[in-house]
Amino acid sequence: MKTWRVAAGARIDGLTLGEEAAAPPGPGQVRVRVRAASLNYRDLMIVNGNYPVSSQAPFVPGSDAAGEVLATGNGVTRFKVGDRVATSFFPNWVEGNMTVAKITGALGAGDLGTLAEEILISEQALVKCPAHLDFAQAATLPCAGTTAWHALFEAGRIKPGSTVLLLGTGGVSIWALQLAKAAGARVIITSSSDAKLEKARALGADAVINYTQVPEWAAEVLRLTGGEGADLVLEVGGAKTVEQSVAAVRMQGMVVIIGAVSGPGGAIAPRSLIVGAKRVQGVFVGSRQMHEDLARFVELAQIKPVVDRVFAAADAPDAYRYFEAGRHFGKVALGFG
Ligand SMILES: NC(=O)c1ccc[n+]([C@@H]2O[C@H](COP(=O)([O-])OP(=O)(O)OC[C@H]3O[C@@H](n4cnc5c(N)ncnc54)[C@H](OP(=O)(O)O)[C@@H]3O)[C@@H](O)[C@H]2O)c1
Repeated sequence: MKTWRVAAGARIDGLTLGEEAAAPPGPGQVRVRVRAASLNYRDLMIVNGNYPVSSQAPFVPGSDAAGEVLATGNGVTRFKVGDRVATSFFPNWVEGNMTVAKITGALGAGDLGTLAEEILISEQALVKCPAHLDFAQAATLPCAGTTAWHALFEAGRIKPGSTVLLLGTGGVSIWALQLAKAAGARVIITSSSDAKLEKARALGADAVINYTQVPEWAAEVLRLTGGEGADLVLEVGGAKTVEQSVAAVRMQGMVVIIGAVSGPGGAIAPRSLIVGAKRVQGVFVGSRQMHEDLARFVELAQIKPVVDRVFAAADAPDAYRYFEAGRHFGKVALGFG
């Protein structure tokens, strides 16, 4: 079976495609024919050497995948051959609160990765795909979708009518836009591109801000919310945005810290939290239970996650380069045919 491997820090050109032998599933394991995977910012950080990994040797990258069950090992009860499944980002975090043990072994960072024609994985680390989604769409639930779900509904606890601020139009933010609108929230979203903001409006965004043209965008969020601020901010920007995200959230509102696409670092002055009793919480993807809750809602609301472009898996380096250029809106996927 064709398998991609890379060493941490080897860059996109270090991705190599090889032929590897397939092994039968052991007890409790499932062999999955990968049909699609999606790219996440951490996949880029991993090849660029900016993310902790568990292996010195070249490993299989890829944080998520969707495909079909090819074979099941002894004792497997949750799935049967032919089922359409997606991987769970943390194979050991099934439910409940996070622990160090539960978040050990996340996919694509030195242990199991998804950029291969077939993978062997525990049946506990799989979730049924929503029936209305194709494999590329279903492959976006495990990381970006689950992170957006966790931030909006578990950490942020938004209600219908809540105002949510989203930064940029990448995978996590567009997932959050689709989920928040389906849940009856008001969405304000920023982007560097007017064309992308038009697409966001078409998906239901209530107000849009071009953060290049309006560098003091927090003031604009306050204006759009009658001086109160957003109930929840999904902070994916990091160094260049975190201060304004805190300024843009209402008193006792929450900034969920997710990522740092504008660079690591950034400071939050204690006083900016004290005055307004604002809350800041980190979120790290989520449990299988959150992925399952997301899948149930996505099916009920018939949400189709936005996949900007699907590359052939054999062209994975081109997909990484396209993703790195940041021209995408929503998700970028790899199709394994
Ligand atoms: N904590 C977690 O569990 C978790 C899970 C998933 C992702 N993440 C992190 O979340 C971040 C987003 O991930 P992703 O996969 O959605 O990335 P992505 O698809 O690559 O999103 C990139 C987008 O970020 C926007 N952006 C860049 N600089 C910005 C700025 N200064 N202000 C506002 N937006 C800016 C751009 O949007 P425009 O082109 O519209 O300007 C760009 O297209 C990454 O840092 C990632 O590591 C964390």
